[in-house]
Amino acid sequence: MKVAFLGTGLMGLPMAQRLLAADIELVAYNRTPEKLAPLEAAGAEIVTHPRYAIRAAEYVILMLTNAPAIYNVLLSDRASQTLKGRTIIQMGTITPTQSQEIRDAVVAGGGEYLEAPVLGSIPEAKAGKLIVMVGAEPEQYQRHLNLLQNFGAEPLFVGPVGTAAGLKLALNQLIASLTSSFALSLAFVQRQGVNVDMFMQILRDSSLYAPTFDKKLQRMLDGNYADPNFPTKHLLKDTELFICEAKSLSLDLSSIKGVRQILQTAMKMSFAEDDYSSLFAVIKEWGEAIGD
Ligand SMILES: NC(=O)c1ccc[n+]([C@@H]2O[C@H](COP(=O)([O-])OP(=O)(O)OC[C@H]3O[C@@H](n4cnc5c(N)ncnc54)[C@H](OP(=O)(O)O)[C@@H]3O)[C@@H](O)[C@H]2O)c1
Repeated sequence: MKVAFLGTGLMGLPMAQRLLAADIELVAYNRTPEKLAPLEAAGAEIVTHPRYAIRAAEYVILMLTNAPAIYNVLLSDRASQTLKGRTIIQMGTITPTQSQEIRDAVVAGGGEYLEAPVLGSIPEAKAGKLIVMVGAEPEQYQRHLNLLQNFGAEPLFVGPVGTAAGLKLALNQLIASLTSSFALSLAFVQRQGVNVDMFMQILRDSSLYAPTFDKKLQRMLDGNYADPNFPTKHLLKDTELFICEAKSLSLDLSSIKGVRQILQTAMKMSFAEDDYSSLFAVIKEWGEAIGD
């Protein structure tokens, strides 16, 4: 089996490394070639254009930022001519509608398409413990299970293309909403002079608790948002994708739109490349500027 890996950013690099560690032959492309050095050192073939990678391998895994990046890499005029007979596995976070459009373009080019977005971040990617959610035909899921198991032990079949992308957006809506909600209560207890340890002790013992609160607590207390696994700009992207997709579903989106505004302010405060828990700094320091 030979796999082409397109997009070796924060998540793509450790995922591609897992394939190499499993002795899978790998050809890799990344827009910024410097990021390919660890893969080249580990034995991957490196190419300077995505179409060379697509041409060289039967399976093509995409771990790119968004749909425009996918169109750029996969569906530009010359790249799309190489899709015949290829299986494209799209693992980034995009909307169901975008995923279905990309599927249609791949199928029109003679290829087949699965979506397999993931929950989990760099540590889980390194350990092969991502939660992989598959949108495909059941038979396609079965056929590609072995390959997907390199990223997570039990890839889950969700339904046809679009359903896994939708599930992923629903989960990321929770990341944005839970984190901003926790940040507001944390800032509030601090301003009220309530002991933070006591707040956390009660919270941990209650049904309100989510493990992500403890994952982000220290960063918020220290104001340390450096070296992110998941940067603020990507959480804003996913929040916007959720709002865009949900618009046609007759849902009240006012709560997540409020979170989007906080994330937009975080971007203005130069936290784009920092950890998304930087939204705590916005809530704490920008309240008067934004407040009603
Ligand atoms: N980080 C996480 O914890 C996490 C978890 C689950 C899912 N995701 C999702 O997985 C995807 C990748 O995330 P990541 O954290 O790995 O992001 P990242 O580090 O920003 O990597 C993004 C990749 O896309 C490439 N890219 C972006 N725009 C491009 C364009 N116009 N043309 C060609 N290549 C382009 C980048 O190339 P360059 O290197 O040249 O910039 C890079 O390889 C995103 O959809 C993200 O939402 C992330």
